[in-house]
Amino acid sequence: MIVFSKISPMNQLFRRKSVSILLAEAKTDEHKFNRALTARNLVTLGIGAIIGTGIFVLTGTAAANYAGPSIVLSFIFSALGCVFAGLCYAEFASMIPIAGSAYTYAYATLGEFLAWIIGWDLILEYLFASSTVAVGWSGYFVSFLKDFNIIIPHELCSAPFNHVIGQGWERTGSILNFPAVALVLLITVLLVIGIRESSRFNNVIVIIKLTVILLFIGFGISFIHVENWHPFIPENTGTFGAFGISGIFTGAGVIFFAYIGFDALSTAAQETRNPAKDMPIGILWSLVICTVLYVAVAGVMTGMVNYKELNVSAPIAVAIDSAGAALVWLRPFIKIGALAGLSSVVLVMLMAQPRIFYTMAKDGLLPPAFTVVHKKFKTPYITTIVTGAVAALIAGIFPIGVLGELVSIGTLLAFVIVCAGIIILRRTDPDAVRPFRTPFVPWFPILGMLICLAQMAALPFDTWMRLIIWMALGMLIYFLYGKRRSKVFINQSNQEIK
Ligand code: ALA
Repeated sequence: MIVFSKISPMNQLFRRKSVSILLAEAKTDEHKFNRALTARNLVTLGIGAIIGTGIFVLTGTAAANYAGPSIVLSFIFSALGCVFAGLCYAEFASMIPIAGSAYTYAYATLGEFLAWIIGWDLILEYLFASSTVAVGWSGYFVSFLKDFNIIIPHELCSAPFNHVIGQGWERTGSILNFPAVALVLLITVLLVIGIRESSRFNNVIVIIKLTVILLFIGFGISFIHVENWHPFIPENTGTFGAFGISGIFTGAGVIFFAYIGFDALSTAAQETRNPAKDMPIGILWSLVICTVLYVAVAGVMTGMVNYKELNVSAPIAVAIDSAGAALVWLRPFIKIGALAGLSSVVLVMLMAQPRIFYTMAKDGLLPPAFTVVHKKFKTPYITTIVTGAVAALIAGIFPIGVLGELVSIGTLLAFVIVCAGIIILRRTDPDAVRPFRTPFVPWFPILGMLICLAQMAALPFDTWMRLIIWMALGMLIYFLYGKRRSKVFINQSNQEIK
């Protein structure tokens, strides 16, 4: 229904949804979802979402091009930003346990327009992240098959388009990245069938990937040559971001992708048994576990081989090769671990996106079809299928680099807004029940914002332009569609008429 009203446009744009209304709406939805997830499920879902392309693919290039052995410091710096943002997510997720995540938090604090912006930004994060990781998975899959002399022709397993800085887009001669497309479609089917089944699949995969990473750390440690850590911070080459202190920050901007995913947990709030208690545990523990593992992997990797040799798509394999025959048995396990690890990231990202669509459509900002939940499977199957189809297409045609940076900048923006939201809501609604409270507000959220902004600033200009274009498209859709169909707006207009 389209409504015309006398409400001032500014008032509408900044109209907020109170926390009590949000909670009441969640209650009416209660019967639709299965409250199946426990705190332990959330930690494994979190690890499932976090450990992936970042550590298995990007660490090597970030060390080789930007930070050298001090990539360890990049991981710590990036983790700090994520922990501050994670604390803010934990407060919101325990307070407003609704599938919309940062979108819902923004609706409660910053108003409808910014909520839409953040919702649109989350689409960029989850939809494109699942495609990005599927492309990374495809690379490992092709190389795994090659070890058994099964060769997939290049035209059938890589992107038909590539972007060259300064030259723009070019055709590669390839048809489609078929393995990436197949993975996304397979996981989509799994997600339609049910969250409990998906969570079981995820548990098994997380065990495999953790085992592989621990094996690498445990066995790799005795092959460290400390001279590879000298100089720990290689001298800057004269270009900002190419080693030196600035290289640590640029390295952080690149490997930030490795941490993305803990925030996706908050979209499962309506399917969690006791979100007030379990959400903070899930978010913070998965983040802490991954940070410790990342720092250890980065330290061992740059200790085993000189960072200059790590500019490859499978840096862990290169580190293992450097140990010679002693670790050759570990090689196939690493590939299996990476394949398992990357597929669970795709699973959680593809699980998160439909739940964001669901919440936005319930608010009237997207078509009502997006709110339909399957009677038998109790999953938002229409949005799951739409998300899966679009993600498969993107994974099939675009290269990993372009996708990854776009996801990082979009996610960093979401983190900045969530941190700001905590400060605002403490002022506008100080008495709301907060089962979990971010400590040292406003300082922790401010630090979170500053660290995320610093990482955004380190990303290339092209990526900023793509973010701006994506946001402009989002604004167009809001003004053409959502603005007049917003439930909050319609309710308010009806009250005015009365
Ligand atoms: N953190 C996830 C990864 O590294 C998105 O693949």
